[in-house]
Amino acid sequence: MGGGVAEVMAKAGLATVVREIDAAAAERSRSGIERSLDRALERGKLDEAGHGAALDNLSFTTDLAELADCDLVVEAIVEDFGLKAEVFAELDRVVTSPEAILATNTSSIPIIDIAMRTGRPEQVVGLHFFNPAPVMKLVEVIPSVCTSPAVVERVTGFATDVIGKTVVAAKDRAGFVVNMLLVPYLLGAMRMLEAGHATAEDIDTGMKLGAAHPMGPLELSDLIGLDTMLLVGETLHAEYGEPSYAPPPLLKRMVAAGQLGRKAGRGFYDYG
Ligand code: 3HC
Repeated sequence: MGGGVAEVMAKAGLATVVREIDAAAAERSRSGIERSLDRALERGKLDEAGHGAALDNLSFTTDLAELADCDLVVEAIVEDFGLKAEVFAELDRVVTSPEAILATNTSSIPIIDIAMRTGRPEQVVGLHFFNPAPVMKLVEVIPSVCTSPAVVERVTGFATDVIGKTVVAAKDRAGFVVNMLLVPYLLGAMRMLEAGHATAEDIDTGMKLGAAHPMGPLELSDLIGLDTMLLVGETLHAEYGEPSYAPPPLLKRMVAAGQLGRKAGRGFYDYG
């Protein structure tokens, strides 16, 4: 997801620093972005000059301190509050401009909890992209109770005018708009499979051809990542206590087995 967000920024002409956890992750990120830019070129979404310029706008690092001069930081690490809290405390130390916006791409963690790990909660906002970020046209903007109205206005203008996304605004409640509606549907498909109600292929075909969705719910869960699905379901369930948000046992077992979806080569489908 972070690579997709970086690609969006670089294609919009912005100098973009991608910070990854180690050199191997940085290399995977760079090659993933290159492959996606190649696809954009093949599909006529980008010309040769735009492809080259986007690559030139990107740099990769493992050192968070290299984000010191950024005007906007978009955190897109794993959905783990402890890790996000550490990253934001460190960003607060290294990002020099008091005007810089510190955004999180969290799917479900309260923005205020993340913001309070910094000494500048008014500069922290949710900026939630959808997978694959270079293709999906939406972002959600989520202010916490502390985010300044000027930051909301700047980040909304940026998302609309600079990176060309459509913005919906949401309150700082788990799931925001899209995941609050989407996640119970995806978990419902897993329960249907678990109950032996229909095969994975038939569930997905049903929703693609019967409801005109571009992907079926199990394919889409594989794309999102089953570890992410589990964490988002747990967060929504903790916030609202409704059974429809509770991750089904099948999802928990698949995550325990490392069957995390597309990125792991195996989820509801095999990608080997
Ligand atoms: N760069 C730019 N554009 C690209 C591209 C790329 N790398 N790859 C594809 N495209 C464009 C195509 O040109 C096409 O544009 P067009 O409609 O204007 O012709 C469009 O994207 C779709 O392309 P295809 O039909 O060829 O689709 P693919 O099979 O390659 O991609 C998909 C499929 C875009 C992933 C589509 O299946 C889809 O929309 N799936 C649903 C995705 C979804 O629901 N995402 C949300 C997940 S929820 C989430 O992320 C929230 C999180 O918090 C959990």
